[in-house]
Amino acid sequence: DLLRGDLTIDPDQNPDHLCTVRGWVRTKREGKEIAFLEVNDGSSLQGLQIVLSPTLDDYEALIKQINTGVSIAATGKLVASTGKGQKVEMQAREITVFGTADPETYPLQKKRHSIEFLRTIAHLRPRTNMFGAVFRVRNACAFAVHQFFQERGFLWVHTPIITASDCEGAGEMFGVTTLDLQKLGLAGKPVDYSQDFFGKPAFLTVSGQLEAEIMATAFSNVYTFGPTFRAENSNTSRHLAEFWMIEPEVAFCDLEGDADLAEDFLKYIFNYVLKTCPEDMEFFQERVNDQVMVNARKIIDEQFERISYTEAIAILEKCDKKFEFPVSWGLDLQSEHERFLAEEYFRKPVIVMDYPLGIKAFYMRVNDDTASDRQTVRAMDILAPGVGEIIGGSQREERLDLLEARIRSVGLNPEDYWWYLDLRRYGTVPHAGFGLGFERLVQFITGMGNIRDVIPFPRFPQSAEF
Ligand code: 4AD
Ligand code: MG
Repeated sequence: DLLRGDLTIDPDQNPDHLCTVRGWVRTKREGKEIAFLEVNDGSSLQGLQIVLSPTLDDYEALIKQINTGVSIAATGKLVASTGKGQKVEMQAREITVFGTADPETYPLQKKRHSIEFLRTIAHLRPRTNMFGAVFRVRNACAFAVHQFFQERGFLWVHTPIITASDCEGAGEMFGVTTLDLQKLGLAGKPVDYSQDFFGKPAFLTVSGQLEAEIMATAFSNVYTFGPTFRAENSNTSRHLAEFWMIEPEVAFCDLEGDADLAEDFLKYIFNYVLKTCPEDMEFFQERVNDQVMVNARKIIDEQFERISYTEAIAILEKCDKKFEFPVSWGLDLQSEHERFLAEEYFRKPVIVMDYPLGIKAFYMRVNDDTASDRQTVRAMDILAPGVGEIIGGSQREERLDLLEARIRSVGLNPEDYWWYLDLRRYGTVPHAGFGLGFERLVQFITGMGNIRDVIPFPRFPQSAEF
């Protein structure tokens, strides 16, 4: 709290009250016979100004040693600051230097660095204002996720990272392998990874949904929050090979209930972040994207638009915009179409429902109450301005015969899904859920242009070595 500068100080009342702060020096300014340091410990955007006067032991040597990046502890008296930009500052009585930082080689000098350059030093970029703000907001989002679900009685369930099933059926999985590199004499050498997991095929999970469905048919309301993996070789500003996903699964719920939950959920997180991270949000508004606050207020205050896929196609076909990819009933929406709907047409988040059966995963509930050759499933995507698809969800097929037929028709073997079918065989219920891409959420809230900049250690084709 000292660094947050929100202390009310009455120096007369407590003339010798000393405090200690520890952190990293961001800047040093030398005036006549006095020096000012800005020290930051990561707790907030603004650090604490520390005033060093020549009365300190070894003042000259100390000033020489302290540069940007140096780690120190400073003990002194907090006083009201007369300088601009901070309420309090510290008059140092004692300074301890833990580690120096050579100004010739330390990359984070005072000048602004490009975000591309900072991406090449993922081990140091958390020490910048921008990444400090991003990772504090990321933390606040994670806390809000848990608070939202815990307040509503949802159980947080832990689904496996190693799995045999391809939930989304897109065939974009990383394989898991058992190798004794020492024994094979391969330690440190290139390896053939086409092995297996103790004699069985295994992969890194693309989604915890199927296991969440197991838990939802016992605990009613559950959610997952963990890492997921996609082996898609896409180099875009919205895709990662490793990303975090939140997947609630709700028994006795249909698609409308699912959409209501998703909308409430996003509103809750935005509200929480605006309340708890006002300085960081102001920083994004000023330095990253001037639409950040407008978008946030829209999420909170306005009702999301809800349209069917068929209506979305009609809008896209009628509009004057020239798209790179074709639009016609039965084709999936591309990023450009999604962004047009959210950013230009409705100018707010849009929930698109009831997609064609042919472009969606096997587990989605078939709309069969109306006979039509345009067969659809109870799927929904939430499209957000600036990001495109942020949530994908559906009502699940709870009817045993229909699910079994669907599994067959997409070329999967029902025997591999015996446990999933059991959920329909014994005590089946209508149920629904969705997946929120955590990084896309953080991107959406902060206005950061590239998804690689909202996760500390992004994984993508050609990503950094650690
Ligand atoms: O639409 P997806 O593939 O849906 C599922 O995985 C379902 N099993 C979810 C469910 O119903 N429980 O992925 C869900 C969300 C997307 O809307 C997107 O926000 C995010 O996950 N996502 C990615 N984020 C970053 N990088 C990628 N490669 C992503 N792929 C999906
Ligand atoms: Mg999707």
